[in-house]
Order: sequence, then structure tokens, then C-alpha cells
Amino acid sequence: MAIDLKALVRSIPDYPKPGIIFRDITSLIEDSAGFSESCERLAAAHRGVGITKVAGIEARGFIFGAGVAIALGVGFVPVRKAGKLPGETIGQNYALEYGVDTIEVHADAVGGNDHVLLIDDLIATGGTAIAAVSLLRRTGAKVEHAGFVIDLPDIGGAGKLRAHGVAVEALMT
Ligand code: PRP
Ligand code: ADE
Repeated sequence: MAIDLKALVRSIPDYPKPGIIFRDITSLIEDSAGFSESCERLAAAHRGVGITKVAGIEARGFIFGAGVAIALGVGFVPVRKAGKLPGETIGQNYALEYGVDTIEVHADAVGGNDHVLLIDDLIATGGTAIAAVSLLRRTGAKVEHAGFVIDLPDIGGAGKLRAHGVAVEALMT
């Protein structure tokens, strides 16, 4: 019987601030069957499309992205918050609720011969994922697929990401 992955995600009200229901994936990844099935389902949705690299977004995207990369038999590319990568980087600013943040990737991590699958734990506004897609595309890489464990559809980020030419898969809403 398929595992009920949604039942393994814990909801914590009023974190990190009042009114937000935080969808906590730590309870999912602490369950070995839930964790492996999450990675396997995200990988299965992207077999046969020619993915050459998986890119995961810091921090929670590293957890699932690494598992998906192993399942697909390709390398993993970390998309990090500014100032964390030691080599030559390229960066992309993106809007937060208040102010801006920057994500970076090593300039030589992917290129024109790559077809990158973007993985993160959750899509809300889509701002982080759209910035990551823009950043990775600047290397010449093709980025046409993204996978998330959780989509918050009321916030609308998945629709915005699709409007950028990215097919979006989510394991649950
Ligand atoms: C969370 C989540 C996504 C992003 C989604 O990360 O893991 O990366 O927010 O939000 P968005 O669709 O509105 O951009 P966060 O920035 O909290 O970083 P963390 O993984 O380091 O906690
Ligand atoms: N990132 C943005 N919104 C979130 C939420 N509601 N739960 C967990 N991570 C988030």
C-alpha cells in the first residue's frame, strides 16, 4: 500500500510568526519509508526526460534533492544563500516579504549541455524557485522541470513557475 506522505508532514501554527501554518517536513524525513518514498516519487516523475543534474535549494531542498539525484543516477548541484560557496559564483536577487535575498550557484556547476531538475521541499510564492530557475538558465542550462514535496496552492507560486516554462510536480498540496 502506498504511504500517506501527507500524514507524515507536521503542521505547526504561528511559526515563524502569528498567522503562518508552518508545514514541517522534519517529521516526514525522520520516517525512513516516508523519506525514501518522497525521493523516489519525485525521481519517478522525472525519469526518461533526460535530466543530467539535480539542483536543490538551501536548506531543505538539499535533503530531498540529494535523494532524488541518487535515485536518478545524476550529480547534485547546491543552490546556496549568498556567501557560502567557495568557488566562482553567479548570483540572483529575489524579493522576500520584506527586502531582498540572494542565492548563488558555482558558475561552472552546470552549463549548456545540462538539463537540470530543480528540487525543493515546498513552493509558496514561487519567488525562491523562480530565482533559482533564472540563475541556472544564465549558465545556458535547460531548466524545464521542478519537483516539490509540498505545494501551497492558495499562494499561487506553482502557477507562476509554470508561466516561466517549467513543468511543476508536487507530491501533495
Ligand atoms: C522555504 C522553503 C522554500 C521557500 C519557499 O525556505 O524551503 O525554499 O521557503 O518559499 P517561496 O515559494 O515563497 O519562495 P526558506 O527561505 O525558509 O529557507 P530554509 O530552507 O533555509 O529554511
Ligand atoms: N516556506 C514558506 N511558507 C512556508 C510554510 N507555510 N511552511 C513551511 N515552509 C514555508
